[in-house]
Amino acid sequence: MSRIVAHRSGPLHGVVEVPGAKNSVLKLMVASLYAPGEHRLTNVPDISDVRAMASLLGALGVRVTESSEHPHELSLVNTGDVRPFAPPEEVGSIRASINLLGPLLACCGRVRLDMPGGDDFGSRPIDMHVAGLEAMGATFDADSTHVEARAERLHGADIVLDYPSVGATENIVGAAVHAEGVTTLRHAAREPEVADLCTLLVEMGARIDGIGTSELRIEGVPRGSLVACTHAVVNDRIQAATYMSATAVLGGDVVVRGAVADHMRMFLRKLTELGVTVEPLPDGVRVAVDRRLTSVDVQTLPYPGVATDNKPLMVTMLAVADGTGVMTENLYPGRFRYVEELSKLGADIRTDGHHAIVRGVERLRGAAVVAPDIRAGAALVVAGLAADGRTTIGGTEHIERGYDDLVGRLAAIGAQLEYV
Ligand code: EPU
Repeated sequence: MSRIVAHRSGPLHGVVEVPGAKNSVLKLMVASLYAPGEHRLTNVPDISDVRAMASLLGALGVRVTESSEHPHELSLVNTGDVRPFAPPEEVGSIRASINLLGPLLACCGRVRLDMPGGDDFGSRPIDMHVAGLEAMGATFDADSTHVEARAERLHGADIVLDYPSVGATENIVGAAVHAEGVTTLRHAAREPEVADLCTLLVEMGARIDGIGTSELRIEGVPRGSLVACTHAVVNDRIQAATYMSATAVLGGDVVVRGAVADHMRMFLRKLTELGVTVEPLPDGVRVAVDRRLTSVDVQTLPYPGVATDNKPLMVTMLAVADGTGVMTENLYPGRFRYVEELSKLGADIRTDGHHAIVRGVERLRGAAVVAPDIRAGAALVVAGLAADGRTTIGGTEHIERGYDDLVGRLAAIGAQLEYV
């Protein structure tokens, strides 16, 4: 089992490049199911979830290969023979497999999936996905282990989500693309990754208005009318936030090239309140800090609020800031599992329901910790770099699911860490 070993580091200096977003690329790969021929994706991050999705799509009839000439480019060849049944061993490892539901229903009129894996943040229901697709004419047979749906022809519907769920929005759009008539989706998720998927579908020939807003209007087009195309994956705002948080905690002056300030306004505002100088540039964002951070209160919210995926990083910044900050989680009730690991490094954190009360300490101390999920793993690496002595971070397979060379990128701006 590999581990990351981190030593007290900082200040950080230089330029770090942001790769493409995991939570976009996986859904863009699924879009290859709509049209035969060769699809190309560029700016693809080198992460294990992409390899898992490639293997899953292979079982459904899309051959995915990495370009030998162009790094970070994928070729996805849809042979024209798409199968709507995903093998359980492929689906199990990856949460985004739920994103097959809408597209396979749209393309094949039926779908069967075993319940997806991914991070364990407590209960992660799919009731909004099901209700939306039922409103469009799908019938479901589901239990705790699998979900099966059918619809000879989906029809447009007027759907209001209880909550702007990323996955439910993507599945409903994915089904509406080939539904008969118009689907209006209100209270839709507005995340940049959702917009990226809608943009790709429009490039392929779908008709979608309101991209990036909470009201999407999708006019169905006939099956078989979409065409393969080439698309660049949107840059990863969570990986960008990781390098910014590392600089905030360790001090220094770093340009995060490829960070899109418009995609992370609230996070940048919180960084400023913590005492970080934030300067949007034409091709990225510069962050600089030369003193101890000052605590703030933060809550996670759907986009454009502070992303739940940035919460472990926020808690890490608060852990070494001057004062007490309250971190409130509004999306996943079970997403505080890494607090125990941060406490092993000397962080002073008390959780109470959806809240974490973080009393900043002057120094963290090295220890052995284990990453419980992708984002918590990255936060533990950042915390380890701020801790005296040596910190070993296990569970690196979680980090590799979503981070393209976290260790190399941090080392390039002056952090002392390595894989063992
Ligand atoms: N929810 C329901 N019912 C539903 C759908 C969602 O109750 O039918 C609840 C969920 O249980 C959760 C909340 O709504 O409490 C948010 O869920 P959402 O559907 O928005 O999230 P998701 O599509 O399952 C994606 C990302 C997550 C990210 C969330 C929120 C992917 C593959 N995953 O999940 O990313 O945290 O949106 O932004 O896109 C990660 O990258 O580490 C990660 C977990």
